[in-house]
Amino acid sequence: MVCEILTYPNKILRKKSKDVMKFDNKLHTLLDNLYETMMFYSGVGLAGIQIGIDLNVLIINIPNEDNVQEKETLIEAINPVITHKNGEQVFSEGCLSVPDFHEEIVRAQSIIVEYYDRNGKKQTMECEDFLAVAWQHEMEHLRGHLFIEKLSFLKRKKFEKEWKKRLKLKSDKKSTL
Ligand code: CO
Repeated sequence: MVCEILTYPNKILRKKSKDVMKFDNKLHTLLDNLYETMMFYSGVGLAGIQIGIDLNVLIINIPNEDNVQEKETLIEAINPVITHKNGEQVFSEGCLSVPDFHEEIVRAQSIIVEYYDRNGKKQTMECEDFLAVAWQHEMEHLRGHLFIEKLSFLKRKKFEKEWKKRLKLKSDKKSTL
């Protein structure tokens, strides 16, 4: 099922997610819904809280060299924890909860992350570059944070001004149609 994605400044996005206790059908349905929603909105990652579910669940599907998101490379992560961070990289990030906005963000170059798959089996992944960025971005959602919080004071101010304008435009549209 394709779900609605909550967008900034929805307060639910600030909620801290809780660990999953049961690896049951309900969890599998949530993972399937996250996948369908992410693909429908052309994202490369999505966290549970973005569809209003405050559980430590996220998915990532990085496109290959031909820009195709192969299902075999889909990562489904339950209760993930980053155990190591190394180096630094700058990457232009976007977010389905902050649509049509991109900005360069500094994050660790490589990470090691531990998580559980949909069957409750513990997994460890070592990764770098864009995949490491995606992990760090999605993990932030689970803690109730968005990448725009990392912007410098001036860039954040500019963003808020443009965002307010855009939200107003949207509500104006609604009332005239
Ligand atoms: Co995001």
